Amino acid sequence: MFSERISRLQGSLVREILAIAQQPEMISFAGGLPAPEAMPKVDFTGMPDSLSQYGPSEGEAWLREAIAAEMSRIGVPAKPDNVLVLTGSQQGLDLAAKLFVDQGTPVMVEAPTFLAAVQCFSLFGAKFVEVGLTPNGPDLVQMEQLLERERPRFAYLIPTFQNPAGFCYDAATRTRIAELFDRYDVVLLEDEPYRELAYDECDRQPICSQLKSAPWIHFGTFSKTAVPGMRVAYLVADQRLMPYLYKLKQAADLHTSRQGQWAMHKLLTSPDYPAHLERLRGFYKVKRDAMAESLDRHFHDLADWVVPPGGLFFWLKLKREADTYAMLPKALERKVAFMPGQPFYATPRISNELRLNFSNASLERIEEGVRILAEVIRKELG
Ligand SMILES: Cc1ncc(COP(=O)(O)O)c(C=O)c1O
Repeated sequence: MFSERISRLQGSLVREILAIAQQPEMISFAGGLPAPEAMPKVDFTGMPDSLSQYGPSEGEAWLREAIAAEMSRIGVPAKPDNVLVLTGSQQGLDLAAKLFVDQGTPVMVEAPTFLAAVQCFSLFGAKFVEVGLTPNGPDLVQMEQLLERERPRFAYLIPTFQNPAGFCYDAATRTRIAELFDRYDVVLLEDEPYRELAYDECDRQPICSQLKSAPWIHFGTFSKTAVPGMRVAYLVADQRLMPYLYKLKQAADLHTSRQGQWAMHKLLTSPDYPAHLERLRGFYKVKRDAMAESLDRHFHDLADWVVPPGGLFFWLKLKREADTYAMLPKALERKVAFMPGQPFYATPRISNELRLNFSNASLERIEEGVRILAEVIRKELG
């Protein structure tokens, strides 16, 4: 009855855990939910009635112009014609998968990587080529060997405040990746939902801005800086890819909500927007620091981690071999939710890692949750 690809359809563990984590007494470190109190008020006052009509598939001209200007400011020389407005950057991953992936197509991803990207690429039959990740970025020696041997059609990378690891690639790594991708003519999919959430100094120069010949797509979103429920995001791509992406977008949903685009444009161009971003960074930095202190207190003998310079997550590796997936039910019983490491790997493995989100819980609940989680893990490790 179903298409052949449905045999590869996976559920999203995040969404399943999130459903459990919605219970009010649960302390949730599981999702990547922005804090509701940090979200700007969406103001529809003055929205033209004409936006109730169907609109252009590529997105509203004024929003594309504002996004192109922002991309140029961060070093990516983009024109409005290079911008496609998306219904969430998740949609961009779907369009890219449709553009590039057939059954068995080699696709490079970081290990670990964003699990919803794995879900999306595997549906279309991707054969994953995993490159190991260090706090400075991918293992470059391994990356070069894999590019040479596996010839992936594209590489999906999250260079700035990676999800789940929180790492930020350093400048030399970014430059080297651009050189390698030009040499091997690999398409770069650069996903940057967290780039504005920077708490410490680190290099954030988009890799696509350093490419000379390799094709590229860069994804951005308003989900983490404004409101995820609006589902407004964008891609900026190499001119060679735009006609295909435009038609794929048209086939997928005609266009992104015009009202949502209008509200995001109003926010993006408001004189208060830079101050909003500053407040947001300040607000999350306090939470990041609170979780770092709680981890020092309760996890120092249990796990290793790097304090993330930005983004929304800590990535912990237990000092002993263990399966954090098997520990999740015990933590949920004690009303603490976290994401085990296992689903962040494109090829199945047992993982002694866990991802902890710090943006959603209050400061008190961060301390309480980390304390309880350490108790659960200590007991499980015997
Ligand atoms: C790496 C990464 N890419 C994409 C997304 C999806 O963002 P959006 O809300 O724009 O679909 C997320 C959200 O958590 C993410 O972490």
